[in-house]
Amino acid sequence: MTTPVQPKFIETNLDHINEYEGKLAVLVTAKGGLDPLARRVNKLCKGAIARFVASAEFAEMKLGATYTLNYPAGMLATAVIISKMNRKSDAITARKAGAAIARATKSGDALLLAGASKITAELAQGHVLCRYEFSDHKSAEPTAQGSLGVMCGDAQAVGAAFQTMAATSEGVFFTRDLVNAPANVLTTVEFANQLIALKKLGLKVTVLEEKELAKLGMNSLLCVGLGSETPTKMVIMEWQGGGDEQPFALVGKGVVFDTGGISLKPAGGMEDMTMDMGGAGVVAGVMKTLALRKAKANIVGLVGLVENMPDGRATRPGDVVTSMKGDTIEVINTDAEGRLVLADVLWYAQKTFKPTGVIDLATLTGAIIVGLGHENAGVFSNNDALSQNFLNAAKAEGEGAWRMPMGDAYDKLIKSRIADMKNVGGRTAGSITAAQFLQRFVMPDMPWIHLDIAGVASTATPTDLAPKGASGWGVRALDRMIADTLEPTDG
Ligand code: BES
Ligand code: MN
Ligand code: ZN
Repeated sequence: MTTPVQPKFIETNLDHINEYEGKLAVLVTAKGGLDPLARRVNKLCKGAIARFVASAEFAEMKLGATYTLNYPAGMLATAVIISKMNRKSDAITARKAGAAIARATKSGDALLLAGASKITAELAQGHVLCRYEFSDHKSAEPTAQGSLGVMCGDAQAVGAAFQTMAATSEGVFFTRDLVNAPANVLTTVEFANQLIALKKLGLKVTVLEEKELAKLGMNSLLCVGLGSETPTKMVIMEWQGGGDEQPFALVGKGVVFDTGGISLKPAGGMEDMTMDMGGAGVVAGVMKTLALRKAKANIVGLVGLVENMPDGRATRPGDVVTSMKGDTIEVINTDAEGRLVLADVLWYAQKTFKPTGVIDLATLTGAIIVGLGHENAGVFSNNDALSQNFLNAAKAEGEGAWRMPMGDAYDKLIKSRIADMKNVGGRTAGSITAAQFLQRFVMPDMPWIHLDIAGVASTATPTDLAPKGASGWGVRALDRMIADTLEPTDG
């Protein structure tokens, strides 16, 4: 488990600065303005900051970027990290600046001299989110995680404002750990165990095993796991922080490894399919966040945990299965397994919990990566108000999300000759036909969003707030959407 750095918020103390032995970070405004803390550091290092600020290099620096002066004279600090950042800014730029300071700090100790900055909590949050390393499987002793001190006016108030952000960071790190974990370690059994462990935070967690899933008629979900040695499970996490209103549901695709099944994937890049439980990982991260910050809302998270393997017992192309809803599905391609998982979990979620709305998340299609790259998740919805709420939250958190079209013309592409539908359309509009398939398992008038996160759940290059690998995309957007639209506002 990777735990986020816990920043220590301390009151301004100019005399403390020359004794600090880690890396100091100072803020300089775009116009080159130094606050009293930066002025003190500048004085100690005999004007080095002022000389840099007067340079063309500073002028060319982007807002939020950093420049490091190493081993400055006049103090014990090993470096002074200069962050070009105004006292007021939008949260996204502030978090990026905090992350840039974290990258400049590497694994050492840092003291951020934030002073009277209005965005101190956001700077700290960006820093914390970016300081993530998945070292579970490195045999070398992990390098000690550096500390983060934040010197600011009104340290107590800033520290309090930071508390909910700390809960979010823990959720994000939980998601990243799950998504980064290899499939021989994160089996469906281990995944379920990690979710059961959330009980200690006050979540109600229920695990349904294959026998129960079969009794419920969830053959669409079950057919995906027939070739695997690790058992198919559905895990339900309930957070009851609200009143007696119906819950909102989050549903996640939890394919712990996707070989494609009998429709086997090519070898090149197949190892990336350890992240095919990314949707379930985000649901888990959000549920953990809600519990940690004691959200005043009722949210139920459901994940279908299964492994897609080829085997003598595996589902064949051409097989027909009957879903829990009763609709029959012709499995043309066993590699289009995510929608088979979600079909039954979506149906179960609606039947059992009568939610006010449902959002499902899945690393569903390669086609969404072709369309949107790694910048945006695909947003598919039957409800303009709900999708606008989500898009607003995603925008505020700087998590890319882009609405995609749906419609009957696309739905026609999944008609089957011998069953109610087939699990793939043609070669065109692959992400949309996948969404149309899911919509067949959404009840009439149920507000619903499908998020195709195949491009954003894990990336080969670092993103603004994460190193390469699992990003935790969506945890913050969903948590914010819940806070902004489902929780009562104070006062
Ligand atoms: N898990 C994959 C989608 C995926 C691809 C996720 C790349 C992350 C990165 C999904 O189960 C899949 O195999 N989809 C197929 C669907 C096709 C058979 C219709 C795909 O996208 O090729
Ligand atoms: Mn697949
Ligand atoms: Zn898959």
